[in-house]
Amino acid sequence: MQDRFGRTVTYLRLSVTDRCDLRCIYCMAEEMTFVPRRDLLSLEELDRVCGVFIRLGVRKIRLTGGEPLVRGGIMTLVHALARHVAEGTLEEVTLTTNGTRLARHAGELAAAGVRRVNVSLDSLNPDRFRTMTRHGDLAQVLEGISAAAQAGLAVRINTVALAGINEDELAELVLWSGARGHDICFIEAMPMGDTGQDRTAHYLPLSLVRNRLARRFTLNTSAHRTGGPARYVHCVETGQRIGFITPMTHNFCESCNRVRLSCTGTLFLCLGQEETADLRAPLRRSESDELLTAAITEALWRKPRGHDFVIDRNRPTLARHMSVTGG
Ligand code: GTP
Ligand code: 5AD
Ligand code: SF4
Repeated sequence: MQDRFGRTVTYLRLSVTDRCDLRCIYCMAEEMTFVPRRDLLSLEELDRVCGVFIRLGVRKIRLTGGEPLVRGGIMTLVHALARHVAEGTLEEVTLTTNGTRLARHAGELAAAGVRRVNVSLDSLNPDRFRTMTRHGDLAQVLEGISAAAQAGLAVRINTVALAGINEDELAELVLWSGARGHDICFIEAMPMGDTGQDRTAHYLPLSLVRNRLARRFTLNTSAHRTGGPARYVHCVETGQRIGFITPMTHNFCESCNRVRLSCTGTLFLCLGQEETADLRAPLRRSESDELLTAAITEALWRKPRGHDFVIDRNRPTLARHMSVTGG
């Protein structure tokens, strides 16, 4: 699957639900309207679309949300996708989760063949965690992370770095993750959707974070890649990697390898643009996969060159919340 800029798409991010049991301040507004359940693609339909993507060249599938583990029956889909890994037609099925239900599912995820998960964790302070997630319970997420590690899953911690909110504990998060054998990845907040928060006030360029960390830790550049936009350094003191995802300060779009499918069957060709294609109609119109294959191939040609996120006090760059596409 090639786009018109010569980029090859091998990575599908599948948002299985736009719902979430948390309301992170940089991601959602307090009151959200979610997709009505009747508009969701069924798990069988999601599996079928994934099959077509795999035949077209996708090698990696990441389940996202909202929160993927709140979708009913999600493990059925994980098992269905894992069979492609067992057959060797797919390299990896992974998951990005907020961790609240990980304790319940970690064992089965590992047994199904999932090898690593990315878990969001923006603070180690229970009160701050509750404020940042608008009601989350830190202990529950920490339990989920332990359960994942115990089950043998490699865990990467995802931390959105926000000025004046969690910037004072980023080094502590590096130490905490390192002590448990987890890599950690810092993320610049992207202006997607109205969250009721002033994004300019909390904008924190990761170049600054990296300089601050370099005063305390020895950071060696690493060539390690996980398939996503993170660029890593190796932290000598913890023995683990620290990643940086910098959509605001450094554009990585020229090496973009991914597309995203929403839970209603809309294909988003770029996280930061409006370009989409409807896959639900071709999926339902025919039992053969020809229409679907044609729709995907046509859409890929429209993949935008890249995003243009700008932090603006008055409005987000995109009206769409991150929870629609799962990042
Ligand atoms: P790996 O597969 O482990 O490399 O994970 P990943 O970093 O691609 O995925 P994850 O779901 O952990 O996302 C971490 C952050 O990266 C989230 O904030 C995503 O929104 C962001 N992200 C992932 N892919 C893209 C992308 O193509 N463009 C932009 N701008 N951000 C992305
Ligand atoms: N900007 C950057 N990252 C975000 N995430 C959610 N919303 C945003 C945003 N506006 C992160 C979550 C999770 C990943 C899927 O995306 O923290 O780690
Ligand atoms: Fe690719 Fe769009 Fe992400 Fe840029 S913003 S890396 S073009 S999906």
